[in-house]
Amino acid sequence: MKGLILCAGRGTRLHPFSYSQPKTLLPVANHPVLHYCIRKLIEVGIRDIGIVINPSQTQIVDFVGDGSQYQATITFIEQEQPLGIAHAVRLARPFIQKEPFTLLLGDNLLMDSLHHLQQAFQQEPVEGALLLSKVERPQDYGIAEVKDGHIISIEEKPQQPKSNLAVIGAYVFTSSIFDVIETLQPSARGEYEITHAIQALIDHGSRIAHTVTDGLYSDVGTIQRWLAADRWMLQKELGQQVKVGTTSTVINCELVGPVLIGENCHIENCKLGPYVSIQDGVELKNCTWIKGSILLEQSSLIDVNWVIEDSLFGRSSYLTGQHSAETGVFIVSDKSSILIPAQGQRDNNDG
Ligand code: G1P
Repeated sequence: MKGLILCAGRGTRLHPFSYSQPKTLLPVANHPVLHYCIRKLIEVGIRDIGIVINPSQTQIVDFVGDGSQYQATITFIEQEQPLGIAHAVRLARPFIQKEPFTLLLGDNLLMDSLHHLQQAFQQEPVEGALLLSKVERPQDYGIAEVKDGHIISIEEKPQQPKSNLAVIGAYVFTSSIFDVIETLQPSARGEYEITHAIQALIDHGSRIAHTVTDGLYSDVGTIQRWLAADRWMLQKELGQQVKVGTTSTVINCELVGPVLIGENCHIENCKLGPYVSIQDGVELKNCTWIKGSILLEQSSLIDVNWVIEDSLFGRSSYLTGQHSAETGVFIVSDKSSILIPAQGQRDNNDG
């Protein structure tokens, strides 16, 4: 069994954060989403992994390297145009050859292991297996219709969904998927849809197995979902604990776990947590309280007396200033600075 992870998407809904790095490298509990995808494959014994990137995503190549940090072999496959999941899979054919493979969407985080999906694929002769989850907005997903335990149809983002069982970015296929992909036409959104390829297999009489998970999952597709994913990953990895990088200094702080602090940070006179992820090189000084937030590398917050919540500070961003409001939500993009004068100073300026 080989593995294939798709990373070539443009991540436009996460702009501006995905301008400076690919969406699959955005950190959740201080590790890129892609890291968790690779780990999921390794967990089920898959070590020969292809990663589809667009040619500009050299940061992904730098991060994964040859895969030796994961004891995996990595092959990069380039997709120059964003023409959809089935198109990306098609480009991977020379890598996959005749083997079955597990396909993961590189921006999807799964809490569960892939063991059940692998079992579903192996239990009986099938051409594929899908991991499904009940969702609240089926219109946003590929939706499977299941009858007597079998998938009888699958539709991409249906207006009138036949169920709430969504495909959540983990699939197993035999190499027969490649033949049906060759027959596809682009969808209304101009993409070659993997759901259409799966439907074509079903139309040809092939069986597609499935397993339904109630484990958490997130496609980390919006800032709110990114913050939520960070929280559950912190909970999973740390519980109530606080973890501080060995080269970081924390002076006179109250830390309420889970809190994760990377390397080379300086944190002084602050209350942090719960649910705070702090990347490397962050400086925090005299911050009243930060919770439920992500601080990307080299960001600084100095003399901030709001309670900061549900916030995201981009790489090398800067916030300073005091305010009488009790709670503040900030979404600050990379290299942006916010300087807010103290109340008294503003009144003076106004006068
Ligand atoms: C894609 C797939 C869809 C699947 C979803 C999971 O949607 O086309 O079938 O349910 O990923 O996240 P997209 O992210 O392109 O909207």
